[in-house]
Amino acid sequence: MSEAGAKTPQRTTLITGGTVVNAEGFVRADVLVRGERIVGIGLDQGWSADRVVDATGKYVIPGGIDVHTHLEYPIDGFTTRTADDFATGSVAAAFGGTTTFIDFVKKRPDATLYDTFVERRQIAESKSIVDFGLHAIVPPLAQQEDVHDDLIRLHAEHGVSSWKFFMAYPGTQMVEDDELLAGMDLAHQLSVLPMVHAENGHMINRAAKQLLDAGLTDEVHHVDAHGHAQEAEAVHRAIILAQEVGTPLYVVHVSSERAAAEIAQARSEGVKVWGETCPQYLLTALEDYEELGERAAGYICSPPIREKSNQAALWRYLGADGLSTLATDHAAFCMEQPDDLPPQKLRSPGYFPKTPNGVPGLEDRLMVAWEAGVVGGLLDLCRFVEITSARPAKLFGMYPRKGTISVGADADIVVWDPNSDHVITAAGGHSRTDYNLYEGMRVTGLPVTVFSRGRALIVDRELHEEARSGRGRYIERGTPQLY
Ligand code: URP
Ligand code: ZN
Ligand code: ZN
Repeated sequence: MSEAGAKTPQRTTLITGGTVVNAEGFVRADVLVRGERIVGIGLDQGWSADRVVDATGKYVIPGGIDVHTHLEYPIDGFTTRTADDFATGSVAAAFGGTTTFIDFVKKRPDATLYDTFVERRQIAESKSIVDFGLHAIVPPLAQQEDVHDDLIRLHAEHGVSSWKFFMAYPGTQMVEDDELLAGMDLAHQLSVLPMVHAENGHMINRAAKQLLDAGLTDEVHHVDAHGHAQEAEAVHRAIILAQEVGTPLYVVHVSSERAAAEIAQARSEGVKVWGETCPQYLLTALEDYEELGERAAGYICSPPIREKSNQAALWRYLGADGLSTLATDHAAFCMEQPDDLPPQKLRSPGYFPKTPNGVPGLEDRLMVAWEAGVVGGLLDLCRFVEITSARPAKLFGMYPRKGTISVGADADIVVWDPNSDHVITAAGGHSRTDYNLYEGMRVTGLPVTVFSRGRALIVDRELHEEARSGRGRYIERGTPQLY
């Protein structure tokens, strides 16, 4: 990269010689950026710029959008939290080519949802190097009777156009069907997109009790409590309830072929339901951790990482739009306990109900999806961009400001080298976690240079001086685009 000229807010950048890839197609073109926006796309335009990036032989793709992260996120009744904060998590995101993430706000027991939201927004604004949004998690009404008033305010004042409901974790986060219906009704009135964590919490508790009563407490039995039926039942019910209300629906972290089939079937009948899956369900399997003993904790998440035989169907659905987005559910914990963090993955060795749920993946998402998906012949280039950026931007009210390389869009741009050679390791990554589900995986596509609103965050795989903590902006999101 060459730099010339003064650094001003309206500095220009020219990305030359690359192939611009959008969800709709790809074309050889130069991209001109002025200030924070893309202002030109074309060939032989005679453009000059303060900074020129040579993208010959590379793809120029919209910055990745990960709509499902949990940074410095409290879990298990606020007894612990995930290891990455908004600083380390956003740096990991940038290194992985993700320029926008959407995290969650879970109501604090001693505060309203609204106040918890404002506090979390400020914390994230002070630390993140990339742009971000926040979904609201709708708590059971027993925790806040007037929570619908807060949801209305969050939508009006902070552009919170997606709300998540838990169908699992009875007694803490789970909403019963009447509350889910009431929440969906309100979401529908406001054109907010309801999201569901779809697992039947009562079925899980029953299965877990049977396992514990039989002395089957080891980490590996987590997967037995969270069966395919638990997930498929909740997905089916959520779709029916959403249809009853007339609202669209987004199902987060679909892990089971049976659950995905429910979504794909409904979509084929014209139902407005979208399913998200995650790299851990596509690339790792029960077979990878069933013999690990307590270190299987590193794979524990909900819904669980399932049998290898489950993976092919998820890929098929993802390729054919039965599933529509790829997010991470990045909830990173450490295996070895650091001094400055509350109890992490190994806080209850041999007792799965107390293992913190969640796995890392924010930095790895694009690389592993590229390798297994695009190089592996399961996704084409445009579909790769669609599931990792364009569709998330549309569903979560950020399109066409984000999710596309178009004139007028934010200059969130990744220069992607499809001819590189890199081995994924935890030690070489930027998340605070100390393990990586894809440890040792060789990937041949890499985000080499990453721009966020025209600022260089990563240049030739190095963190750039423009990647300042707190430069990331909170995105007030608009109405979901459901086409
Ligand atoms: O296992 C998962 N998905 N963990 C994420 C944190 C949570 O409880 O939502
Ligand atoms: Zn969830
Ligand atoms: Zn999650």
